[in-house]
Amino acid sequence: MVATTAEVAQTGSRQVGVYHPVVPSELRESWFVGPVEIPTRLVLAPMAGVSVQAFRRQGRRFGAGLVCSEMVSCAGIEHRNERTLGYLRVAEDEHPLAIQLFGSDPRVMGEAAKLVEAAGADIVDLNFGCPVKKVTKTGAGATLLDAPDRAARIVSAIAESVELPVSVKLRRGLRDGSRDCLTVGPRLVEAGAASLTLHPRSAQQMYTGTADHSLTAELVDLVDVPVVASGDITSRARAQAVLATTGAAAVMVGRAAQGNPWVLAEIAGENPSEPTREEIVAELVLYLRETVRELGERRASSFLKKFYGWYLGRGRFPRPFKQELVLLDSTEEVERRLLAAAPGAIELVERLEAEIPSGDEVTLELPISVYGGG
Ligand SMILES: Cc1cc2nc3c(=O)[nH]c(=O)nc-3n(C[C@H](O)[C@H](O)[C@H](O)COP(=O)(O)O)c2cc1C
Repeated sequence: MVATTAEVAQTGSRQVGVYHPVVPSELRESWFVGPVEIPTRLVLAPMAGVSVQAFRRQGRRFGAGLVCSEMVSCAGIEHRNERTLGYLRVAEDEHPLAIQLFGSDPRVMGEAAKLVEAAGADIVDLNFGCPVKKVTKTGAGATLLDAPDRAARIVSAIAESVELPVSVKLRRGLRDGSRDCLTVGPRLVEAGAASLTLHPRSAQQMYTGTADHSLTAELVDLVDVPVVASGDITSRARAQAVLATTGAAAVMVGRAAQGNPWVLAEIAGENPSEPTREEIVAELVLYLRETVRELGERRASSFLKKFYGWYLGRGRFPRPFKQELVLLDSTEEVERRLLAAAPGAIELVERLEAEIPSGDEVTLELPISVYGGG
């Protein structure tokens, strides 16, 4: 159903009489980034330290139309850093998938984008929003909002290097109250960006306060490419309100989906009931197994610790149980404890594993050139 401008005006935050591309609020509709069709208006956010393949594949299963890797260092790619190259692994059931790059040198980023393309991604996403010092002090991430010429040069270098559509993820600006995204965003589109994602907090704000989606609405009015709204989307009602009041093509969900894929189904309109203990444990066990396959036992076992609290929190399991899991040495022991707490999950895990392609089948080998042939 397409809302009328008047209906949108009634929702409160749009001015009557201002032209605005009113979009349907139905989340299960497709849209496009360049030629790439995205089957739902729900995007899973890129999150460093979170967005492993297991997270992205699970996100697709629960209704995300587009998933994204965490930000990958172009310098790491240039130096063929093995761990960095691992972030370029794409599974068959992740598509459509964006791989996100961060960096500051247009030439190096253009070269890195070629490997993203070779690795099988559908979209190259650029991080112009990371507020973390380690990244901004190198001239990458959110600092590019203060360097619009270089930002535009990066986008055009990448658009020229690859056939894939280029998307850019921005914050509102560096400092509180900044509106720089409204001047930088249109320049990036001129330079070749096929879509923009706005997280309308300043870099200074980090994750405090709230995302001001009135800026998202302003950006939508200024550009003729799809805009994705990121920030504080935690429920279907919120997603629909943001789509209707901003004209964004899609919403992006980040923190709300950590350990809670069910929220994606709810936002997409599946109306799921609260997951049972068995369903929670089954998803977590599958997540453990996939992450161990992806990262190896040693890296996975420390990486996964934060997920125990995320999955088992929200009053789902008692706190001492979560604490006990964090103290266990191996993911095998964690799995054993989890399945002992919810034996009915054993059958569910088997069913899930039978339904989805196994890690080995779906992990594409990176071309030898990605490893520099050596
Ligand atoms: C732990 C964490 C890591 C993040 N890493 C990235 C990242 O690598 N690239 C990026 O563009 N945004 C990153 N973000 C920002 C999110 O993509 C998103 O824009 C932000 O969390 C707001 O959305 P939310 O309220 O739905 O979480 C990260 C956020 C969190 C919480």
